[in-house]
Amino acid sequence: METCVLCLLFLGLCFPLLHGKSVKQFRTWGTTDGSEEWGYVEVRPKAHMFWWLYRSPNRVESGPTPWPTVLWLQGGPGASAVGIGNFQEIGPLDTDLKPRNSTWLQKADLLFVDNPVGAGYSFVEDEAALATTDEHCGIDLTTLLKMLFNGNAGLQKSPLFVVAESYGGKFAVTVGLSIAKAIKAGELNLTLGGIALGDSWISPEDFVLTWGTLLRDVSRLDINGEKKSNSLAQLIKKQLGEGEYTNATSTWAVLEEVIASQSNNVDFYNFLLDNGMDPLGSMAIPSTLSSGKMTMKGYSSYLSSKYTSKVSLDDLMNGVIKQKLKIIPKDMSWGEQYDMVFNAMSGDFMKPRIKEVDELLSMGVNVTIYNGQVDLICATKGTEAWVQKLKWEGLADFNNAIREPLYCGNYEGTKAFAKSYKNLHFYWILEAGHFVPVDQPCVALQMPMLFNSGDPGSTVQSYKTSGPFSLLHSRAPTTCKTLHQINT
Ligand SMILES: *[C@@H]1O[C@H](CO)[C@@H](O)[C@H](O)[C@H]1NC(C)=O
Ligand SMILES: *[C@@H]1O[C@H](CO)[C@@H](O)[C@H](O)[C@H]1NC(C)=O
Ligand SMILES: *[C@@H]1O[C@H](CO)[C@@H](O)[C@H](O)[C@H]1NC(C)=O
Ligand SMILES: *[C@@H]1O[C@H](CO)[C@@H](O)[C@H](O)[C@H]1NC(C)=O
Repeated sequence: METCVLCLLFLGLCFPLLHGKSVKQFRTWGTTDGSEEWGYVEVRPKAHMFWWLYRSPNRVESGPTPWPTVLWLQGGPGASAVGIGNFQEIGPLDTDLKPRNSTWLQKADLLFVDNPVGAGYSFVEDEAALATTDEHCGIDLTTLLKMLFNGNAGLQKSPLFVVAESYGGKFAVTVGLSIAKAIKAGELNLTLGGIALGDSWISPEDFVLTWGTLLRDVSRLDINGEKKSNSLAQLIKKQLGEGEYTNATSTWAVLEEVIASQSNNVDFYNFLLDNGMDPLGSMAIPSTLSSGKMTMKGYSSYLSSKYTSKVSLDDLMNGVIKQKLKIIPKDMSWGEQYDMVFNAMSGDFMKPRIKEVDELLSMGVNVTIYNGQVDLICATKGTEAWVQKLKWEGLADFNNAIREPLYCGNYEGTKAFAKSYKNLHFYWILEAGHFVPVDQPCVALQMPMLFNSGDPGSTVQSYKTSGPFSLLHSRAPTTCKTLHQINT
């Protein structure tokens, strides 16, 4: 508990609250060869959102389908896509700044956004400017997309696929609806390619209700642990039914603590593992402090455990990357997961977003769901449960559709299963936990519905960099008028 409090204080020190700064409305910067661009957009007064776009060297203009752009959304809420998703999961470079051979840049241009404002390099000048609902975050993201896409014919050529992980799934569906609305109103010029929900927290109730029994089935809890877990899950269900959303968030935190103690610290991101042995890793789950505030720790300790890097993500993002980007305010620190962002969202954290998935499906938007087999926090069993609650008219046919096995690379065994009906696509990814692109990079890149690539049979090629990564390879800031027509 003591370590926990220390961490909270430490994070408190680096929370991106920048008072009284004269921050321009938005600024962009990039590499001289145009392969990377990044910048800030002031999505609301005092709320500054950071984005980073990578253009793929593999881009083909005349393929069977238009070259896609993937907008990657991280979870938390409060975790940084620009740091975690980019350097630990799918970006062109890993945390040692070495090329990642499974980068999604092979198949798409990549747009990482630190969302909600306050996460990663994004910041607010006033705590009151933090977003408090999923819908609010969807609107902020749409404001950012208007700034980037409107008047930019190059970007408009690529359909946008919103791909989310974990809590990011709730943002993906709210931003999906908000994008569709803005397109219809003639306020946003882009093509929405689809929405992908990777191990996404769409229906918290359905996840917490599976935990006890699932963990007992795989020997991680005994009957007593299962009972305790299920009774707290029932309490959450009751609280949600009564609209006591913030209380449900507190009960969720208690439930995770109970499961941790009853299971000798199972890893919530892969139930076959123990949570990390280091003090930070052991706090990958929320803790309720005596203050009643919650703290989310070590979101990416599971990911860090996959690398032998000597540099922590924190040092990387506050060191060479911050220097490269040039436009990050000097007095702010990048943080992997900001508790204040999480706490601002605590009234929405447990709310389901099944209705939003239904709306997207009935609008004809492609919705892809993929889930790692050994994820606990967003267990496949829970994902299947909320899918069965959809009111979408295609559900019965989806259930009856034939499930196909998927293979990948030189490995002869089954890697995944896939089922599709009309615009709903579901991938069951074997031997993967919460972080599918990291645990099963080969098959992640072969989910054709994710990229609409029309090339389901391709195998993973090693990513070729055009040259050594240059940290100082920057050109002067451009005025945004020339790059992006401002539309408010
Ligand atoms: C969208 O693009 C069309 C055609 O390129 C153009 O006429 C229209 O003004 C654009 N709208 C916005 C909001 O940029
Ligand atoms: C919800 O939490 C508040 C504040 O802690 C408490 O006063 C209230 O009794 C709780 N409601 C329920 C139904 O548990
Ligand atoms: C959905 O995905 C399929 C398969 O890639 C594609 O043929 C179809 O055009 C997509 N639909 C929409 C509305 O984008
Ligand atoms: C990518 O790297 C991993 C780990 O370094 C290696 O096992 C794999 O064979 C590589 N794949 C390709 C296609 O180079």
